[in-house]
Amino acid sequence: MQTDVTTDFGGRTAFVTGGGSGIGRAAALLFARHGARVAVVELDAAGATETVHLIRAAGGDAEFLAADLARESEVRQAVERCVARFGGLDCAFNNAGICPPAGPFHELDGAEWERVIAVDLSAVFYCMKHQIRHMLAHGGGAIVNTSSGAGVTPAPDARGRARVRTPADPRQRDLPRRDRHADDAREHRRAPGHRTRAARHAADRAHG
Ligand SMILES: NC(=O)c1ccc[n+]([C@@H]2O[C@H](COP(=O)([O-])OP(=O)(O)OC[C@H]3O[C@@H](n4cnc5c(N)ncnc54)[C@H](O)[C@@H]3O)[C@@H](O)[C@H]2O)c1
Repeated sequence: MQTDVTTDFGGRTAFVTGGGSGIGRAAALLFARHGARVAVVELDAAGATETVHLIRAAGGDAEFLAADLARESEVRQAVERCVARFGGLDCAFNNAGICPPAGPFHELDGAEWERVIAVDLSAVFYCMKHQIRHMLAHGGGAIVNTSSGAGVTPAPDARGRARVRTPADPRQRDLPRRDRHADDAREHRRAPGHRTRAARHAADRAHG
């Protein structure tokens, strides 16, 4: 097994989402302690400002970049501002996330579901898309995304959370059945393979 791990981030820039609190702040401080310049990308200005303050007080370099990561335009701007401020983007920790209040799956509000999808799923796609574009054009980089144990082991009443994190983890299969409020509910899934008209159409388009 290869154990080629570096803890020297001197001269590198880390883009940390959700860096104003919890795991994101801890990661931002750790990146800075190991020499990285840190872009703290956040919705919460107060939390992000405090993280930046902690890093600078310890002699590091950090900047708060305000963004609602659920909006692709704001993600793109955050990446551009990171590159403008620090001269690059070498590492990304896509960690920001939200969790709907626990409760019965079938009572999850539609608007809450859409926000969870937007922040816990789409935002990660937007971040990776714009980070990778920069990294490919500038010699590469490394990205780590935060998932959730709820996407691996279904937690009763975890509702939207486990569902959203599911695409990243095929082991999560049966949330409604394990939701103790949904004993009578049944779920069916369809997972079309490649022998469908839609798949052929997509392949035709891809190959001209
Ligand atoms: N803490 C846990 O026990 C736990 C367990 C499983 C998964 N996670 C995941 O780990 C990550 C961090 O968790 P945490 O406990 O540190 O959470 P936290 O709530 O302390 O921090 C999340 C941060 O993300 C920010 N954020 C939320 N939505 C945003 C948006 N649209 N745009 C920009 N920033 C946004 C918040 O302002 C907040 O500062 C989350 O993705 C969470 O789902 C945490």
